[in-house]
Amino acid sequence: MARDRDIAAFDARAPGYDRGRLGRLHHEIADRTADLALRLLPAPGRILDVGCGTGYLLRQLAARCPEAAGLSGIDPAPAMIRAARASTADSRLQWLPGTVEELPFPAEAFDLVVSTTSFDHWSDQQAGLRQCARVLAPRGWLVLTDQFSAWLVPTLAGSRRHKARTRPRAARLLAAAGFREIQWHDIHAVIINAAAARR
Ligand SMILES: C[S@@+](CC[C@H](N)C(=O)[O-])C[C@H]1O[C@@H](n2cnc3c(N)ncnc32)[C@H](O)[C@@H]1O
Repeated sequence: MARDRDIAAFDARAPGYDRGRLGRLHHEIADRTADLALRLLPAPGRILDVGCGTGYLLRQLAARCPEAAGLSGIDPAPAMIRAARASTADSRLQWLPGTVEELPFPAEAFDLVVSTTSFDHWSDQQAGLRQCARVLAPRGWLVLTDQFSAWLVPTLAGSRRHKARTRPRAARLLAAAGFREIQWHDIHAVIINAAAARR
């Protein structure tokens, strides 16, 4: 799907995004990603969620990290950002429109960068990972949850041929972006896995 149509589709889905079976699935993936991130880094001070959608994951992290000073969510779909802003009064959270390829943050601004089921939609996955590395403090963690599975090899034809949907492909992009200590964690139903890596 072309980039603008992809984002327009998420914009249209925003009002009902957290409802129903799909909403519950996204929450379960986010909960497991939060568990993993806080096992790796139990008390992050500054957290970024890339492709934050309606903000469920960042709200869970805010509730579980009372010591966190700032939590930022970024997403290119304006309706997702509006829903996220309306969802909480916690002043530690900020929600910004934008893409991972052009993160509007200074270098080394975060201790933890998380992202759930967004990576596959990034228009330039390598540029996005380089931006994640840039905004992470030295030794900070990236936790990137999405579809990474050998079962997806048949989907890597046509318009999806450049997507990093397998662990080896994603690991190559992570290493090229400067990430180290790359590790893999099962999150949901074989296909959804998390890559955790350190800057
Ligand atoms: C399937 S939703 C996931 C939302 C949320 N992270 C969750 O787990 O429920 C994918 C999100 O990625 C966002 N997205 C698409 N392209 C992006 C990009 N280039 N940079 C950052 N986010 C992007 C979409 O707007 C959408 O909100």
